[in-house]
Amino acid sequence: RVYPESTDASAAIAREIADLIRARAADSRVAVLGLVAGSSPVNVYAELVRLHRDEQLSFANVVTFNLDEYYPMAPDCLQSHARFMHEHLFDHVDIRPENIHLPDGTQPVESISDNCRDYERQMADAGGVDIQLLGIGRTGHIGFNEPGSGTESRTRMITLDGMTRIDSASHFFGVENVPRRAITMGVGTILQARKIFLLAFGEGKSSIIARTIEGELAPTVPATSLQEHPDAELILDHAAAAKL
Ligand code: GLP
Repeated sequence: RVYPESTDASAAIAREIADLIRARAADSRVAVLGLVAGSSPVNVYAELVRLHRDEQLSFANVVTFNLDEYYPMAPDCLQSHARFMHEHLFDHVDIRPENIHLPDGTQPVESISDNCRDYERQMADAGGVDIQLLGIGRTGHIGFNEPGSGTESRTRMITLDGMTRIDSASHFFGVENVPRRAITMGVGTILQARKIFLLAFGEGKSSIIARTIEGELAPTVPATSLQEHPDAELILDHAAAAKL
């Protein structure tokens, strides 16, 4: 879907998320959201906060699972995805703290694989992800699934691609400060979501968006795996769609 402006796109996606939350609340059921940090979803979260404030959208029945986190990373650190989520969404709505799930960037290395399996189990116990939001990196990563991540990959620790670390450098005041590793849901985990919205705005995303949609499905561009999903939509502005 191509929108004239990213703000129109974000408002439309926030509306769809709000519709799901309300429909589930009417049936006394939870809505399970897979959430992402980064610049792309900022206006979706801003609109959800506005709907909470102005239109009584309650998050009491919302359960969230975040896609990824740098490792190591303390949750109160400026660059942490946990802090991002609290600042942009969680601190402004009535979500129950126990319903928020984020990969823990402070856990000891030796417990990571057990905790990743647990994270997947919690997702399954919650009923699976209803709507997964994604961004995309210049390497074609979704979450932090860098090139080489296949459709079977699950939640795990990965090594970040050099290009991803360069793209994050400004947030960390220099590439040497960007962590070399991260914890991410796998491509296979992401593909289990019932509905996926990948948000990409601006000219900088246009090349990787063209490869994602028109390129061959291959682990060298993990986002191409979305071609296999029955209900994945790419939400673009004109600039991101320019090379299609
Ligand atoms: C990071 C995150 C991704 C995110 C991507 C795009 O590397 N791990 O989950 O989607 O960057 O970020 P942005 O939306 O800021 O362009």
